[in-house]
Amino acid sequence: MTKAKLSLDGKDYEFPVLVGSEDEVGIDFTTLRKTTGAISLDPGYGNTGSCTSTITFINGEKGILQYRGYPIEEVAASASFEEVCFLLIYGHLPSVDELATFHDKLIHHSMIHEAMKDFFQDFPPTAHPMMVLSAMVASLSAYYTRGAVDEDVDLNIIRLLAKVKTIAAFSYKKSIGQPFIYPRNDLSYTKDFLHMMFAVPSEPYLPSDVRDRAHNLLLILHADHEQNCSTSTVRMVGSSQSNLFASVSSGVSALWGPLHGGANQKVIEMLEQIRDDGGDYEKYVRMAKDPDSPFRLMGFGHRVYKNFDPRATILKEAAADVLAELGTTDPLLEIAKNLERIALEDPYFVDRKLYPNVDFYSGILYRAMGIPTEMFTVMFALGRLPGWIAQWKEGREDPKAKISRPRQIYLGATQRPFVPLEERAAKKATKAEEPELVPA
Ligand code: ACO
Repeated sequence: MTKAKLSLDGKDYEFPVLVGSEDEVGIDFTTLRKTTGAISLDPGYGNTGSCTSTITFINGEKGILQYRGYPIEEVAASASFEEVCFLLIYGHLPSVDELATFHDKLIHHSMIHEAMKDFFQDFPPTAHPMMVLSAMVASLSAYYTRGAVDEDVDLNIIRLLAKVKTIAAFSYKKSIGQPFIYPRNDLSYTKDFLHMMFAVPSEPYLPSDVRDRAHNLLLILHADHEQNCSTSTVRMVGSSQSNLFASVSSGVSALWGPLHGGANQKVIEMLEQIRDDGGDYEKYVRMAKDPDSPFRLMGFGHRVYKNFDPRATILKEAAADVLAELGTTDPLLEIAKNLERIALEDPYFVDRKLYPNVDFYSGILYRAMGIPTEMFTVMFALGRLPGWIAQWKEGREDPKAKISRPRQIYLGATQRPFVPLEERAAKKATKAEEPELVPA
């Protein structure tokens, strides 16, 4: 298969076909407008490949997810988040020395400029931590200005990875009115974040192995997901040659929405609502199916996965294991499992291939780790950071890359003469004096 044919207005056109390394097929429409005068219309981009990439592969029909060719199940079972960051950004698994150097760089760039601490104080107490994160990531470009030119890009990648965990933890401390806790150079990336979240000046905090493993797993499972909404945003902003911090800041904003990463917070709020409502799952499934109700089962459905989301499968098991190891229970886990069971037996969900996604069970784990609900999407952002960086870098290094600039089909008014304000006002005044038309 090398060509695709298109007939338009009685004329035939041929377009090249590109086959990916996992046999996915794309029709190359780069010359479509030039040759036919038409564009392809695909709102929501469900059928549109915006780029070629070598980072992450997903087969939504079969529930497959691979980072640089490695199956997510194998990566999640034995890698550290730092290894995954390296793999995604630099394209290969790090050697022992490479990983040690990478770790060393990360710990030596984890502090933020002292002056940035003052920024946190000026946000109102109502500020959502995702808003704070987005603003602070963009603000990094004020301190590391040379990131717009390539010579500092490598260093800025390290700075961003290292500093976002500090910013995320500081935004939490600010929201609860506690003093900021500085990063520690003797801790792993995951442990350091939890230390900055939960230590206080009078009492250190070191996460148990169970919590640390859960955190590592969550970050890895969120690390990349090819051209999703926030990643496409990062690549799109990067395509105009905006710097790394500005590009990733816009990705944070895109992730915040409830249809994307913000769903993890909404899932827990939904499960709490069901619990407070006496646990009537059927009522919520009915509401989700009702075309007149805007309610959706949060954490269900995915643009790409039409079988199961492999991340959700891993997280469901992990949630049960972690709660058992911690010796606690969470009634929300039972509600989630029951809701999943009922929904998956229902023809509405079966016909539409709606399955639990990564956000459905992640909140249960975050709760077990003591993370407050408002921070869930920040946790997602922390995990997604290496993916955003890798994808931004890939876009910037592509010699064929162009500024992202989609087209549209215009359905508005056709050309008409502009009426100046005075004329419009005069017309209105004359109209007011006209006798009102009385219907016959
Ligand atoms: N609950 C009830 N019905 C749903 C749900 C849901 N969660 N998701 C989709 N549907 C229905 C739609 O109403 C639509 O029904 P119709 O064909 O009768 O009109 C059909 O399933 C297809 O849904 P679309 O919205 O067209 O699917 P799309 O691929 O555009 O959206 C999305 C995917 C946004 C994830 C959607 O499933 C959703 O809103 N889910 C809830 C929010 C959520 O969990 N988001 C997190 C996604 S994972 C991530 O971003 C990390």
